[in-house]
Amino acid sequence: MCRGFRRATLRYDRSRARRGLLPRVEGVSDMNFKVVAATASLGGLLFGYDTGVVSGALPFVREVFQLSEAMQGFFVSIALAGAAAGAGVAGQLADAYGRRRVILVVAALFVVGALLCAVAANVPVLLLGRLTLGVAIGVASMLTPLYLAEMAPADKRGGVVSLNQMCITVGILLSYIVAYLLSEVDGGWRWMLAIGCLPGVVLGLGMLGLPDSPRWLAGQGRLDEAAAALRTLRGGQDVTAELNQLRTDLTRENGALVPWSALLEPRVRLPLIVGVGLAVFQQVTGINTVIYYAPIIFEQAGMGSTSAAILATAGVGVVNVIMTYVALKLLDTAGRRKLLIVGLAGMTAMLAILTAGFAVGTEGPLAWIATLSVAAYVGFFAIGLGPVFWLLISEIFPLAVRGRAMGVATVANWGANLIVSQIFLMLIAGLGSAATFGLFAVMSVGALLFTLALVPETKGRTLEEIEADFSGERAAARL
Ligand code: BGC
Repeated sequence: MCRGFRRATLRYDRSRARRGLLPRVEGVSDMNFKVVAATASLGGLLFGYDTGVVSGALPFVREVFQLSEAMQGFFVSIALAGAAAGAGVAGQLADAYGRRRVILVVAALFVVGALLCAVAANVPVLLLGRLTLGVAIGVASMLTPLYLAEMAPADKRGGVVSLNQMCITVGILLSYIVAYLLSEVDGGWRWMLAIGCLPGVVLGLGMLGLPDSPRWLAGQGRLDEAAAALRTLRGGQDVTAELNQLRTDLTRENGALVPWSALLEPRVRLPLIVGVGLAVFQQVTGINTVIYYAPIIFEQAGMGSTSAAILATAGVGVVNVIMTYVALKLLDTAGRRKLLIVGLAGMTAMLAILTAGFAVGTEGPLAWIATLSVAAYVGFFAIGLGPVFWLLISEIFPLAVRGRAMGVATVANWGANLIVSQIFLMLIAGLGSAATFGLFAVMSVGALLFTLALVPETKGRTLEEIEADFSGERAAARL
């Protein structure tokens, strides 16, 4: 590591240690953690890439395999069914076999799925590839933040959760750029799908060199290995204090011993309604119909060529990344609830404009109205419902049931995503574009009212304070 950087890190760590934010350990460096974070974040990047790439590939796949509306929906949603299943089993697998081993398998699935899609000569192979990718995405959506959070120094956990959302949006943007560059190339859609192999290979090779999470190792009673992993992560320094803290946390969490029925306890009821409610609203307000089908929406709105539609989609991807970055800067100052409310109000307004645009007609300026209002809609999603949902579900559940409750919310998110994506093209064909986007606008109003009534502010509060708020009188009054 360069000396200047090391000195600066030491100064920063010492001053935080003086303020009681870190155990006072001289010379601690988090450089190794940065390598871990960069490698594991590839899981988020792949989640985003393989999510976004369908939008660029779909118009070509539709042509080549002569897919009906329902089959196009199936091509998209079979991956989501896989993701829901993957997210459902990720927690148990990671507890049984360790985070590292499961992420290695996920990396292999990302590579195999991408290759199957890329070489598919018929629809069944294509669908098998998408299903494989879906399982990988679902497991990664649970496991990447979990592994990152467990490897991070305690005071960095919050930022790490948001880093994952950032990687998802960067992955989506990359997929749009690749799709644009390859849209005029003969058989380019196969390369679009194949390129997902590369981060998969890097993730796999990178994980081979990384330790398992100290928290998991300690939970298995493998304390020596946990200590060794922690020393590697913290630059070979004394980790006694952190190891003791880990032991205390594990005793308090007691996660493995809590039965599923604990999710029905009164103190879990409100957070679970909030978590699952936001999970469902994140999807039924239509975000992924844009992420997956944007070129088709733009074509419907009168945009000339497929590659122009894909370029407009790439613009939407840029807005998504930039506004997610803005959100990350604001989450701890403006607060989660405020961002959520502003974001949902903006999404509702943009969906209303889109509905009105489609209702008036598909000639002339509509292509511009569609592009601008879709871009602004994605921007409002990215400062609110996008990152806030994932952050809140890591904050609002009592410690003892956190893993399980997050699992339920994640599966609800993928399940709702599956239903919306499966029926979206049928809705467009059956009801028309105006009514379909009108429906999303109504859902957005519902999400706004739900937030106003039930979602608390968690900014700057300890997890214990949040838990107390949810189990107190105010919570009872809200139900
Ligand atoms: C959602 C994904 C979505 C992505 C778009 C995430 O928060 O869970 O479903 O594709 O945001 O940026």
